[in-house]
Amino acid sequence: MITGANTGIGKETARKIAALGAHLVMVCRNLEKGEAARKEIIQKTNNQNVDLLICDLSSLNEVKQFTDEFLKKYSSLHVLINNAGVFRMKRTVTEDGFELTFAVNYLAHFYLTKLLLPLLRKSSPSRIVNLSSDIHKFFKIKLKDPLLEKRYSGQQAYSNSKTAMVLFTNKLVRELEGTGVSAFTVNPGHIKTQLTTEGLPKWMNTMSNLIPNRRTPEQGAETSVYVAASNDLEGVTGKYLTDCKETKTAKMTKVIENQDYLWELSERLVSEAIEKES
Ligand SMILES: NC(=O)c1ccc[n+]([C@@H]2O[C@H](COP(=O)([O-])OP(=O)(O)OC[C@H]3O[C@@H](n4cnc5c(N)ncnc54)[C@H](OP(=O)(O)O)[C@@H]3O)[C@@H](O)[C@H]2O)c1
Repeated sequence: MITGANTGIGKETARKIAALGAHLVMVCRNLEKGEAARKEIIQKTNNQNVDLLICDLSSLNEVKQFTDEFLKKYSSLHVLINNAGVFRMKRTVTEDGFELTFAVNYLAHFYLTKLLLPLLRKSSPSRIVNLSSDIHKFFKIKLKDPLLEKRYSGQQAYSNSKTAMVLFTNKLVRELEGTGVSAFTVNPGHIKTQLTTEGLPKWMNTMSNLIPNRRTPEQGAETSVYVAASNDLEGVTGKYLTDCKETKTAKMTKVIENQDYLWELSERLVSEAIEKES
């Protein structure tokens, strides 16, 4: 399963994984865009086992309904790639009342993963692949204000969500010890996609275009595919990978108290949102 599979790194990851012959479930929020990508992937790979399910990750209740539907339909899950992401210069709030970047990039994936853990355990050996970014090393997360209620900046919000993904992966590794379910974080590098063009103001786009060797979505997908499918990683867990090699994360992501704090906060935020709806 891969989220955000209709464009950018997610679509290329989906295509490469379909080309390996896997039964793939693409999770997209827009039926038309998702169906167009699904058809393209089937046509390019000749793999007919490419399914599309719709879920808007900005709603935790939709994540719950989507997962219920998935669990009715499928009896195994070997790889979950938490890829979908947004970048917003202006603070936006979801229907659950959470800052959008943190909600989509991290909290929805936290909840989705938790709901799918029993199936991932049953299907082990299995892998969880969380998309992060090296930006998490430069804009430090304030764990007491991850939703940026006090002061907002797009970079800080994005970095918060990507730091949260690393903390989440590290906590998962401890939670899943001995289960055969491994968890990894991927830094795809600086890739030219809708996220790094449409999301940015003009001046930042111009700056972004000046970065040498900005890579294609196809190149951006390489590490996700490696982590999802390579035999090299059998029996391995917990690594943060860039260009298919282990690289360092921010020191604070290794601190157990930080991992536990975020996990407990996330559980609380999710249950408040779900209770509000029911
Ligand atoms: N590009 C980079 O340089 C870079 C660097 C480091 C990390 N990353 C990470 O890599 C991942 C993929 O990014 P990308 O650059 O490929 O971005 P992208 O081209 O903008 O693709 C993002 C995907 O997420 C989906 N998405 C956004 N909001 C959603 C929602 N509410 N519900 C469901 N799906 C939603 C988008 O769907 P729509 O098409 O419908 O909007 C799209 O399919 C992200 O996690 C990003 O943070 C990217």
